[in-house]
Amino acid sequence: MNSSKTTKGYTRLAGYKVLSFDKISSTQTYAHDMIASGEARDCTAIVAQAQYAGRGRYRRNWVSHHGNLYVSFIFSCDERDSRLAYAVAVAIVDTIASYGIRAEIKWPNDVLIDGKKVSGVLIEYAGRFVIVGIGINVLTNPTVAEYKTTKLADYADVTVLDLFNRLSKNLEKWRKADFNSVRQRWMDAAAGINTMVKYRGEMVKLIGINDSGALVVRHKNEYVLIHGDEIFM
Ligand code: BTN
Repeated sequence: MNSSKTTKGYTRLAGYKVLSFDKISSTQTYAHDMIASGEARDCTAIVAQAQYAGRGRYRRNWVSHHGNLYVSFIFSCDERDSRLAYAVAVAIVDTIASYGIRAEIKWPNDVLIDGKKVSGVLIEYAGRFVIVGIGINVLTNPTVAEYKTTKLADYADVTVLDLFNRLSKNLEKWRKADFNSVRQRWMDAAAGINTMVKYRGEMVKLIGINDSGALVVRHKNEYVLIHGDEIFM
């Protein structure tokens, strides 16, 4: 990946126009700016070697030192689709599996190794586009109060460029796959299926995901659908 401070030239990789930076505030924020200014195109990837204002879900920071992968993919989209989150999770798990590492998915798309978070995904919609922001810990993992973290370097030799290459290919594959195959693969890789998890202070049984991408849990004798909340294992 390019190491200059503010590269404006695009390169091409795995079907994506790739814009690389050494350090920027956030690839996600940069993607929003591109959309707002009319510069954004379908299948653009913004990659940074480090971020000084990386953003996570629930307005958390995403600590972004050099040595890890920080990328935001921009795709054209007509409407919100909650199923995309699962395709992304499966693409990350397959990418990690390609190095011989077994990873699991914590709903909807946190990726864990040995129960510790190695990757997070932030999906945001803007105008006619969706931005898929992915962070994967390769060389360093931050200490985070809310959960345990880990990094790929503890399990295999991984370079960020090779990781990005594999991830881009897997994302293309799973984004275009039919949702039944995505759901099947997601269920295979999901942590805690058929176990009790905590949802809004209640213990519920994790059943899986349905056709439209909602999480299905059982509370006492009732099946409940969850869209975009957090469950605790
Ligand atoms: C999470 O909270 O689990 C989501 C983390 C998403 C982090 C990625 S790193 C690349 C992109 N740029 C950001 O500022 N955030 C996302």
